[in-house]
Amino acid sequence: MPDTEAAPTTADLLAPAFWADLDGMHEFFTWARAEAPVWRDERNGLWAVTRHADVLDVERRSDPFSSQGCYRANVAAEETNMIAQDDPGHIAQRRLVNRRFTPRAVQDFAPMLQDTIDELVDKATEKGDVEVVVDLAAQLPSRLTAHMLGFPEERWPDVKSWSERLMRTDALLVDQDALMGMITAITEFNQVLTETAAERRTCPADDLISIWVGADLDPMSMMHETGLFIAGGAETTRTVIARGLHVLAQHPEQWAAMGDDPSLVPAAVEEVIRWVTPLNNFFRTATRADRIGAQPVEAGDRVMIVYPSANRDGAVFDDPFRFDIRRDPNPHLAFGQGTHFCLGANLARMELRMLFESMARRWKAIEPVFEPDIEPNIFAGAVRSYHLRVTPR
Ligand code: HEM
Repeated sequence: MPDTEAAPTTADLLAPAFWADLDGMHEFFTWARAEAPVWRDERNGLWAVTRHADVLDVERRSDPFSSQGCYRANVAAEETNMIAQDDPGHIAQRRLVNRRFTPRAVQDFAPMLQDTIDELVDKATEKGDVEVVVDLAAQLPSRLTAHMLGFPEERWPDVKSWSERLMRTDALLVDQDALMGMITAITEFNQVLTETAAERRTCPADDLISIWVGADLDPMSMMHETGLFIAGGAETTRTVIARGLHVLAQHPEQWAAMGDDPSLVPAAVEEVIRWVTPLNNFFRTATRADRIGAQPVEAGDRVMIVYPSANRDGAVFDDPFRFDIRRDPNPHLAFGQGTHFCLGANLARMELRMLFESMARRWKAIEPVFEPDIEPNIFAGAVRSYHLRVTPR
């Protein structure tokens, strides 16, 4: 549990390094939840919403807390994927693909996922020393994302690289490499998208690109939706796998319990998602004067929703800094809430349950060779590399 008295009382929330120092970040938000729950970041001109109840409130009130063109740190008025819009435009675009992501529909992905998981876990077991990011954490979601979109699955290294570059968008005004990386990623995936869309026009398949082509979604929106699914599908789950393996390696008795009793896996996955909370924040803009908790906000004010803070709120989670795979209830907000609630949540949960069940069944013990290398990034707590030693049962 961070020490609130000694905690820093200020922070630069648009500094990538702030988010990579996990202890420092949690210390600051623990202080903020107690002392300044809707904290004013003067330097960056934004309000940070740190309490669980206030995050829920802002997420549920898309009027006046708008996502239109401003869901990330930088305003992107020209973006036309679902997440960058308010209803009714948002919901119309979400409905095009919604049916592919119900709990029942995502079962269609299970055979492909189990084959891939078996292949990756077999290889990792043989190696014993596993580079978690490339061998497991990045590969599985990138292959699934390629498959779901309609891209050739063997292009997963490209999906991995595109998603990494897209997740750096917050830094593009101050970092030339981030800007170039994003432009080249969009150019590269748009070429594959254009080719695939042309094929699907004459020969539709069971994938998202076929749905968008069938609905005559304009090419620009199709490009933006594809970018959203690449980043949303590949980067988030990757972070949960890599950092989830790390927290479980630090709790060997919980790892062993999960291996002995697979019925523990669903709750364990929820706790891993709460613990890791792979996305740090989304943004909203107040469209009129209102309040968040006791804090008045003005029309035009920028609001940052801070997920890792909401998920360590002691008002909701008993002993929030204790990792407990048996935690129940576990109303974490890692997938957001309200109209933009993560479309991929059912798929992500199924993918993570299948993977963690397979790994815990096959590996008696897991042991870090070195600490995960976490990328300094405002948006996502992604792991660049992480080395693990696995002992088969
Ligand atoms: C553990 C994994 C994941 C986490 C933690 C996560 C988290 C989130 C969060 C926080 C949001 C915004 C919610 C809001 O504003 O209220 C979101 C939206 C979204 N996510 Fe995920 N996500 C994950 C996996 C996925 C996957 C696998 C996919 C792809 C199938 C996906 C696709 C999306 C899409 C399309 C949206 C936009 C929804 C909308 O605007 O209506 N996510 N996700």
